[in-house]
Amino acid sequence: METTRPDWLTDDSDTTKPSIARMYDYFLGGSRHLEIDRAVAAKAVEAAPGIKILIWENRKFLKRVGRWAASRGIQQFLDLGSGIPAGGNLHTVVQQLNPSARVVYVDIDPVAVARATELLADDPYAAALQGDVTEPAAILASAPVRELIDFDRPVAVLLLNVLHFVPYAAVEPAVAAFREVLSPGSALAITHGTGDLASTDPTGISKVYAEAFGQMTMRDESAFGTLFGDFELIEPGIVDVPQWRPDSGLAARMGPVNCYAGVAVRP
Ligand SMILES: C[S@@+](CC[C@H](N)C(=O)[O-])C[C@H]1O[C@@H](n2cnc3c(N)ncnc32)[C@H](O)[C@@H]1O
Repeated sequence: METTRPDWLTDDSDTTKPSIARMYDYFLGGSRHLEIDRAVAAKAVEAAPGIKILIWENRKFLKRVGRWAASRGIQQFLDLGSGIPAGGNLHTVVQQLNPSARVVYVDIDPVAVARATELLADDPYAAALQGDVTEPAAILASAPVRELIDFDRPVAVLLLNVLHFVPYAAVEPAVAAFREVLSPGSALAITHGTGDLASTDPTGISKVYAEAFGQMTMRDESAFGTLFGDFELIEPGIVDVPQWRPDSGLAARMGPVNCYAGVAVRP
């Protein structure tokens, strides 16, 4: 247990409850987590021993999607539920290919936003803001989004490993609202927990997360596919996250991690 309040905590951080962002930071080897977050992480590992692999595979997917989008000329990125920067970040990946690529990070957690803001202090093309993905209008009207993103040109919207933490009924309208503002050539990348793929029962991890964070809902392939609306899924379609355009043959030999991934483009 912490004896003093860590200086990276923001004044509005709630330390009486575990935080998804801080727990995730712990899994990714970051330094912004508390005992209360690590306790949930320990229960999560007990319920789903492969959880850390799933988390790292999502970070690898983020990089593959960033490179794919930047290499097809997409220069603007909206990373929703972006987390506390750790384990490789989108702006680093895409600005390697295009130094003026624009990235806006959005997260509900104040520590995630504070850390990203600190990291991006010298980057005129990237910013972070505190926002709730279930309130798309507020995110789209925010100053960083209006200043950095031009929706008349293609944008890649990323929703990685976040929607299963959001109340189920709020997910589809929120994702639809983001799809609606995207112009042709824009892309939508989503990953989401599922019980479809691995033989391990997902009930245990769902219970741990629901108890800790109040919400955890898996999606089957059809419910996941609905999130892309009339956008066109690119190859290989909806797959377990390591199998989406893997960098090496290793993914083919990996067991399933129970997390759907898909990338779709507005025709
Ligand atoms: C599991 S982490 C995923 C981080 C990152 N997208 C990745 O894949 O590495 C989920 C993040 O979503 C954030 N989050 C949860 N609910 C949210 C909401 N309603 N709006 C915005 N962010 C949210 C959490 O604070 C956390 O940082």
